[in-house]
Amino acid sequence: MKRFESKVVLVLGGNAGIGRATAEAFAREGARVVVAARREDQGVAVVQAIQKQGGTAKFLRADVAKEADIKAVIDGTVKEYGQLDVLFNNAGIEGKNGPIASLGASDFDETFGVNVRGTWLAMKHALPHLVKTKGTIVNNGSVVAEIGFPDFSIYSATKGAVHALTRATAMEFIPQGVRVNAVAPGPIETDMAARAFGGLESLRAITKQTVPTGGPGVVEDIAAAVLYLASPEARFVVGQVLVVDGGLTAH
Ligand SMILES: NC(=O)c1ccc[n+]([C@@H]2O[C@H](COP(=O)([O-])OP(=O)(O)OC[C@H]3O[C@@H](n4cnc5c(N)ncnc54)[C@H](OP(=O)(O)O)[C@@H]3O)[C@@H](O)[C@H]2O)c1
Repeated sequence: MKRFESKVVLVLGGNAGIGRATAEAFAREGARVVVAARREDQGVAVVQAIQKQGGTAKFLRADVAKEADIKAVIDGTVKEYGQLDVLFNNAGIEGKNGPIASLGASDFDETFGVNVRGTWLAMKHALPHLVKTKGTIVNNGSVVAEIGFPDFSIYSATKGAVHALTRATAMEFIPQGVRVNAVAPGPIETDMAARAFGGLESLRAITKQTVPTGGPGVVEDIAAAVLYLASPEARFVVGQVLVVDGGLTAH
């Protein structure tokens, strides 16, 4: 039997990068997967790739900056597949970065609106369904919440908030049998990281110097950690932030 047979998984931000790899990994393990994000063509492409491999998936369009979209995608998941077992709260933006003096309140609000408000709202609307299935949430945090990177003040603060939300919500819902954890990736080769580091080559050059494994991780490294946290093997793992960073924060 596959690890997630009979389970229903919602991946917010599932049409690219870490979210796409995780949606595909859940589907390979037998889950019925809803891929949600704003770009429909990329979402449909992920669903088609999953179906081609014999998996079950559906795309639902959602902008996590909008509460109505979040509610609709969660209701839509339960309508389509009858239940919700796993929420991977992965949708995120790097937002505008740079010296604090170059940033404004609207930059702060935009990044917090997606990364923090979106994460919190998705948990709020998913939890009543997860209580029914004794399901689980994995939030996507970041190592930037644990160590300081200059010029990333707003993004780092959003991920610190995600880690705190994870612990608080875990304590609130473990009495009802819902586990909440987070994964904290180090630098991973995705479009976002390439943008944030000024291109893929620059990302590789910088991480060669700073990451003990000698370079960035790949999306499958994070997908594997998310599947572990969402699986029954992690039944005693509650309110944790699992750092997956090639040793970056350990040295
Ligand atoms: N890559 C890294 O090095 C790294 C490190 C630490 C943490 N992370 C975190 O990992 C997560 C995924 O990032 P990634 O690196 O895989 O980046 P990515 O390739 O840019 O993927 C971001 C995903 O989020 C979705 N998204 C963005 N804004 C959204 C919104 N308002 N509503 C719904 N979906 C939205 C995007 O789809 P649409 O644009 O189509 O909506 C896309 O699916 C993020 O939370 C990021 O902060 C990444």
